Amino acid sequence: MRKILITGALGQIGTELTAEMRKIYGSGNVVASNRRIKEGHEQLIESGPFEIIDVNDPVALASAVDKHKINTIVNLAAILSATGEKDPQQCWNINMNGLYNVLEISREKNCMLFTPSSIAAFGPLTPKDETPQDTIQRPTTMYGVTKAAGELLCDYYFKKFGVDTRGVRFPGLISYKTLPGGGTTDYAVHIYYEALKNQEYTCFIQKGTYMDMMYMPDAISAIIDLIEADSGRLKHRNAFNVTAMSFEPEMIAASIRKFIPEFKLSYDVDPIRQEIANSWPNSLDDSAAREEWDWNPKYNLDTMTQDMLEKLRVKLDV
Ligand code: SER
Repeated sequence: MRKILITGALGQIGTELTAEMRKIYGSGNVVASNRRIKEGHEQLIESGPFEIIDVNDPVALASAVDKHKINTIVNLAAILSATGEKDPQQCWNINMNGLYNVLEISREKNCMLFTPSSIAAFGPLTPKDETPQDTIQRPTTMYGVTKAAGELLCDYYFKKFGVDTRGVRFPGLISYKTLPGGGTTDYAVHIYYEALKNQEYTCFIQKGTYMDMMYMPDAISAIIDLIEADSGRLKHRNAFNVTAMSFEPEMIAASIRKFIPEFKLSYDVDPIRQEIANSWPNSLDDSAAREEWDWNPKYNLDTMTQDMLEKLRVKLDV
C-alpha cells in the first residue's frame, strides 16, 4: 500500500496531482503539504491529510514521514526559472537544499522519491532540436543549475544508497486550475485567460521562440505512470525527457483563433525571460520515456486549447 507525501502540494502541479492521487490511492493515503496555507485551496486541504512543511526543515519532514508511515515522496516544492533569476540564493536554498533534505529522509526511512526536473536542465550548448535524452546540459539559469544538479544527486542516491529515485524533465505545463508562479513558459497559460477576458494578449516571449509544452492531465499521468513503472525496465532515472508538443507564440494564437476568431496577439518582450527561453531546447526527443515506461501523451495543441477554453469559460464565468 502506498502512503504518499507531496511537498509543494498547493502549487500548479501539486493541486492537481493531490486530487488525482487521492482518487487512485485513497484520500487517507495521500498527505498534502506546503510551506504555508494559500487562499483558495480549502477543498484540497479538507479532502485528506494536510501538513505545513517547509522542505528546508528536515525535522518537520521526518516527523510527517513517521507520523503518516510514508513510503513514497513526491517533491514538488521549487522556485521556477524567472523567480529564480530574481533571487538565485533562495532558488538554490529551496530547490537544492530542500531536495537534499528530502533525499536524506528517503534514504533514512526507505521511501521512493519522485522529483521533477525540467527543460531548464539544458543550456545553450545543448542540441536544440529533438534534444536527446543523454546530451550536453550546462544550464545558465539558477533554476536550471538546481535541476541539473538535482538530477545528478538523485541518480547518486540511487546508485550509492539504493534509494528508488525517479524524475521527468517537464516542459512548460499548461493548466486552468492553479496558475504557475514565475516561470518562463507561463505566457502559454496567461494567453488563454486573456483570450477569454479581453480577446487579446501581450506576450513577453518573442515570436518564433519554440519551447516544449504539455497539458496538465498528461503531466499528472507522467508522474503516476513513472512512479508505478517496473523498476527493472528503467535504464534511466533522473530524469526522462517528456513532451507533448512544441510551439511558438503565433502557433498557440492560431489555435485560439479556431475558437475565438477575433483574438489578437501582440508583443512586449521581457529580455530576462527571453534570454532564458533562448537557452532552452526547441523540442525534446522523449523516446527513452516511451520505451522504458510507455509514456504516451494524449493532448496536442488544438485538443488542449479546446479543453482549456471550455474549462476556463466556466471558471472565469465569461
Ligand atoms: N515551466 C518552467 C519555467 O518556465 C520550466 O520548467 O520555469
